[in-house]
Amino acid sequence: MEVIKDKDINKSQEIQLEIVGRVVATEKNPNTAQSFNFWTNLDSPVGIGTIVKVIDDEAKREIYGIVTEGISYTDLAAPIHDYISSEGDPNLGLTAQTKRPEIRYYTASVLKMVPEEPIQPVSIGNVYLADDEAVRKSLRMDKYADETGIPIGLYVNGDNQSPVYLDSKFLIGPEAAHLNVTGVSGLATKTSIIEFLLSSTFQHYKGEGGVAAVLFNVKGSDLLFLDQAAENLSPEELKMYEKLQMEAKPFEKVHYYAPYKADKVNLNTLRTHEDLVHNVSALSWGLKEVIDHVQVVLNKDDVDAKADAFLSFMSEKVIDNDKIDSFYCMHKKIENFNDLDEWFQRIFAESSGEDGNNSEGKSQWRGHAIATIRKVYNRIMNINTRCKGLITNDSVSHDLPWGNFEDRTVYVVDVANVIPLAQDLVFTRVVEKLREQLESKSLGVDKVLVFVDELNKYASNDSGNSYLKQTLLEISERGRYLGLILFSAQQFKSQVHKRIVGNCGTSIYGRMDMDELANQGYSVMPSTIKAELTVLEKGKLLIRHPHFNQYIFVRFPRPAIMTSQDGMNKFKSAPERNFEDAMILNFKRLDKNLRATDIKDAIIGVEPDEIIRAFNETERKGKEKPLEFFKKALRKKPPRQSFTDTHSKSPVIVEDIDDWLNN
Ligand SMILES: Nc1ncnc2c1ncn2[C@@H]1O[C@H](COP(=O)(O)OP(=O)(O)OP(=O)(O)O)[C@@H](O)[C@H]1O
Ligand SMILES: [Mg+2]
Repeated sequence: MEVIKDKDINKSQEIQLEIVGRVVATEKNPNTAQSFNFWTNLDSPVGIGTIVKVIDDEAKREIYGIVTEGISYTDLAAPIHDYISSEGDPNLGLTAQTKRPEIRYYTASVLKMVPEEPIQPVSIGNVYLADDEAVRKSLRMDKYADETGIPIGLYVNGDNQSPVYLDSKFLIGPEAAHLNVTGVSGLATKTSIIEFLLSSTFQHYKGEGGVAAVLFNVKGSDLLFLDQAAENLSPEELKMYEKLQMEAKPFEKVHYYAPYKADKVNLNTLRTHEDLVHNVSALSWGLKEVIDHVQVVLNKDDVDAKADAFLSFMSEKVIDNDKIDSFYCMHKKIENFNDLDEWFQRIFAESSGEDGNNSEGKSQWRGHAIATIRKVYNRIMNINTRCKGLITNDSVSHDLPWGNFEDRTVYVVDVANVIPLAQDLVFTRVVEKLREQLESKSLGVDKVLVFVDELNKYASNDSGNSYLKQTLLEISERGRYLGLILFSAQQFKSQVHKRIVGNCGTSIYGRMDMDELANQGYSVMPSTIKAELTVLEKGKLLIRHPHFNQYIFVRFPRPAIMTSQDGMNKFKSAPERNFEDAMILNFKRLDKNLRATDIKDAIIGVEPDEIIRAFNETERKGKEKPLEFFKKALRKKPPRQSFTDTHSKSPVIVEDIDDWLNN
């Protein structure tokens, strides 16, 4: 290793870097301000992706570059000369007396020049391998690493491992935002890098106002063990954590949310092991929660202008309106699906003349066509059947802790096992609610990272225009002003809506197929980088970030979180439980110390519907002492009538409805 003494640059410090080559420029292959050429010896540890530093011969300028191409050649003019000199025998070629000189010749793209002005072609000088400091400077990380740096992995060259940081101002705003990861299934480590980056963000983000994450689990048990420690991180991986100044630990604050299955007692998630249910909560929405997003639930073709007008009328005048207007067939406040059902029945009765007041004929009701009303009725009432388990008939909903989000907390919404329609509804409502509360600064934290996997499924580039795609577009275009940041992943970026990926400040690529790389979107990527991507090993990724002038390869350690396979082996998911066992588990979610026998005693002889109702009330209001609360919440005599009978505020009106229903 040669020690160089820098005269003009870095006057105060003597830098020690390994010299590996020398810049060359010919008329045919000149250097420019963007790229330069250099040769190295055969044994130099330089390859595609290596970061190098050039100090020009005048020692006036430092140039940092990243190798994008390499060739090797000898002084041989044509292959025939070699053939003749070795008399057609390959072995003679091996033992030839004079070995032909061979060089490696590399092209590097400029990452940074010091000083930056004037912008000039790279001058001739020696080439050195970058060390930590040079890596910091070349990627402009010296300006932000200590303040707003979020470690993403290590730049590795031989023994040298230098931390690479993303700038939180460009990852989660306000300068730029959003992140997208792409690559083939199983090898690209997409989910793993998201988990790693979330952990590194939680450990390193210094901004005020707090940051939380909302992750949608759309694949099996992918994100279900975020609070469990990885069991087998290697010493090398632990060293990587150390170098990145990170603790190798799982997430400390994680909350899981899942809808019920159709039976309304078993939660629809694979996180059902008794030891893990303490932080799993039910997600269940009633009319109020659903009606604002009813367009999601209705088929796009259904919502013509007439249906839209009727829906607007419903949300404005009818649902949850304190003004009970009998002109509109309202006899009480319409709070839940049961109330709504009754309201529709009244309209149909009135319009068919059953109420003896056939004022408007049979085809119209208050200016709306009966056919339209029937259509809306059928679709809305169908939600309950189609999204069983997520939608509840009563007025009690279980939801994310709106207004009380906590700093460095992960909220996982498990929608892996629900039908696409319910997934759409959950995505849309959660994201819109986040947006609403971030806008009014009432969420509890200032920034939320939302992770959506399988983006090509939810926001594909086809012509279809779903409500969810619209929502995702909205986040990617306007989310950063609000602090709503989209982290997304998919196998094929080319299949995702252009404006969504185009708005991502940071892009990550794992192993990819040539087919995918042949798409137009990758045309700016150097062909050598593409070739490298097709053989990329697990844990190595290509990063594009606003501060980095070029694509950079980094390595990251496996997340310090139990993998989904290990998790499923260790915490076997219970098969679907019968009613009694499912209720025992539900109570244990609220208090793991409750005894099964006490729970059984409390529910014995009570109607299942009443148990579910009282339990829902307990989960909402009585988590402190669940069993005691539950017992008090149980109605002495199970109600014979429907939910509406028991929850109506006005007994007079209840009687009315009863009469009406029984007639
Ligand atoms: N840093 C790493 N180094 C080596 N192996 C890793 C690393 N991170 C993850 N892996 C391994 O790679 C495998 C795939 O990881 P991961 O589930 O993140 O991939 P994925 O791209 O999300 O796949 P899919 O598209 O199927 O969801 C896992 O078995 C995991 O243990
Ligand atoms: Mg994945």
